[in-house]
Amino acid sequence: MLIWGIIMSTNTNGGLPDIAEIEKLANQFFRALPGNSLNDASAQRDLQNLAPAGDSSQGSIYTDNDLLKISSPESPDKYAPLSGPVAGSGISPSAINQGNAVNLQDPQTSFADPGLNASKQPAAPVSGGGIPPSKAGLPVQPTAGISDYFEYPGFPGYRDAPQTFPVTGYAAPVPQNLSQLPYQQEQPFETELREILNKVNSSVPSPQIPFSGLPAADVNAYYFLNDNHHPASSSVKLDNSDKAGLSGFMPPFDINLVRRDFPILQEYVKGKPLIWLDNAATTQKPRQVIERLTYFYEHENSNIHRAAHELAARATDAYEGARKKVQAFLNAGSVNEIVFVRGATEAINLVAKTWGEQKLEAGDEIIVSHLEHHANIVPWQQLAAKKGLKIRVIPVDDDGQILLDEYARLLGPKTKLVAFTQVSNALGTVTPAAQIVQMAHSAGAKVLIDGAQSVSHMRVDVKALNADWFVFSGHKVFGPTGIGVLYGKEALLNETQPWQGGGNMIVDVTFEHTQYQNAPGRFEAGTGNIADAVGLGAAIDYVTRLGMDAIAQYEHYLLVYATGLLKEVPGLRLIGTAPEKASVLSFVLDGYKTEEVGSELNKEGIAVRSGHHCAQPILRRFGFESTVRPSLAFYNTCAEVDILVDTLRRLKREGRRL
Ligand code: ALA
Repeated sequence: MLIWGIIMSTNTNGGLPDIAEIEKLANQFFRALPGNSLNDASAQRDLQNLAPAGDSSQGSIYTDNDLLKISSPESPDKYAPLSGPVAGSGISPSAINQGNAVNLQDPQTSFADPGLNASKQPAAPVSGGGIPPSKAGLPVQPTAGISDYFEYPGFPGYRDAPQTFPVTGYAAPVPQNLSQLPYQQEQPFETELREILNKVNSSVPSPQIPFSGLPAADVNAYYFLNDNHHPASSSVKLDNSDKAGLSGFMPPFDINLVRRDFPILQEYVKGKPLIWLDNAATTQKPRQVIERLTYFYEHENSNIHRAAHELAARATDAYEGARKKVQAFLNAGSVNEIVFVRGATEAINLVAKTWGEQKLEAGDEIIVSHLEHHANIVPWQQLAAKKGLKIRVIPVDDDGQILLDEYARLLGPKTKLVAFTQVSNALGTVTPAAQIVQMAHSAGAKVLIDGAQSVSHMRVDVKALNADWFVFSGHKVFGPTGIGVLYGKEALLNETQPWQGGGNMIVDVTFEHTQYQNAPGRFEAGTGNIADAVGLGAAIDYVTRLGMDAIAQYEHYLLVYATGLLKEVPGLRLIGTAPEKASVLSFVLDGYKTEEVGSELNKEGIAVRSGHHCAQPILRRFGFESTVRPSLAFYNTCAEVDILVDTLRRLKREGRRL
């Protein structure tokens, strides 16, 4: 009936469709869809990203002839840009598939889920995740979506930019040939509706709708680009190429669309829109990750590598598919170099308690940097106490940069391991990782890089870095908690004896002897965190689609912007002012305890970490026991930074009345 109503409405109005009527009918139609339609659609998207049959290094039982026909994750369309609003209508394919309410005339809101949290929140004041416009008049960001759907007259050069819009996930076209199981099929009503909407679109002119809130393409309005308005360019030192980049800056993605992928960014705290600036502690999860977990438990859940049944095959392929995604994400040489663990902390402990215990001897030395998180100090201390090793520490300068000449002096024949962070969680310093690795190798030492704070902010290439081990946690890169990765060079992993014994990691067991699997299996005893590994794979897909280089570029501008404004807050001292930084803005505010600042910011809906950040040695190096630590991710905005800075200024103005 509804379908018929929609068809009829396209034939009124002198042949032109009545958009309002269609919109109303479409929304009624979506509301009438079966409750599982969302999962059906997400299932189809996700299935495309699963491992191809037979890819499992563990010998998946799932073959080409099995029930599901799944395209390879390496297939050319995997990272294809989104197809965008359907034929210019402003309706995303996902909106159609998910049964969301749609607004045919608004390409912005068509990506939103208007039902989300509707019952418990006040209406968001503006589009873009509820964050009001920044002072420069921009909606939530200095950037705008690059798209041939949006025109910014007078915005020089935008047409030359790569056409990356929109890159907010939901990218994969719905496969047409999944015909075996009902939930994998495109439903007849979806096909019908798609056809109708395509028909509508062909008779509706493409909207020339400017990005909401974008000022009239006045480049000067990009206040972070303007030296006069933007004091930050002197605080985070920019070289000439950076400055050239500033003046010719092209927005890498549409932040308003990106934010809509993160349901929690619609949350309200203390009656204010949540401003999540605690990304160094953990990151928020896009809908694509959340849905992938749901889909796993609804359609794939099984133990892996073990049983000859359909769900075991699906779960195994999903898990091993995630391993392949991690391999590609890190540019590792083989999936066998990717071990799933609980997180970066467990990965470091694994290396300490296997390779460290097996290979190091009394008198050997381990070098760490002064920047390290406790996770990259304590396991080595425990090992040193047990085996009579010596820990040596690379000092940093007053900006928080590693002193390479001091490091060179520490290196020697006794050095067996250098373990250091790629990005400091407390200061944000980006360390010269490749150089540190190369110097360690020249001294004959092995190297472990803690990538917990780097993988979400920059492209990581373990081949280029040439570290022996690289560790990270899934939850810091928009994936689930409880899953992380140990990358290790394959030969090194295979010559290292496992630390935990049990099922899954063996080739053969008798009461006299056990033969272990090669890596990664030998380090994955017992039933692992299967679903969250799959969720991590979805998170990697997400950031890969956005583009790690685009993320790094956007966050750089955000960091520069925030640094400049924070430096101007009276009584505020930034701790960690290295030229190369990522995400983190640690500070102390004169007259306030750090926890008081954290608590006051919370009243404005702003989440930051106050404390020692599990990195006491580096804070003490600067004479502090704790700092306030806002930390940025790609979904943060200049407007959010404005609110942070305004609140701090107000605190300073009003004085301590706590
Ligand atoms: N390591 C995390 C942080 O820096 C928990 O906050």
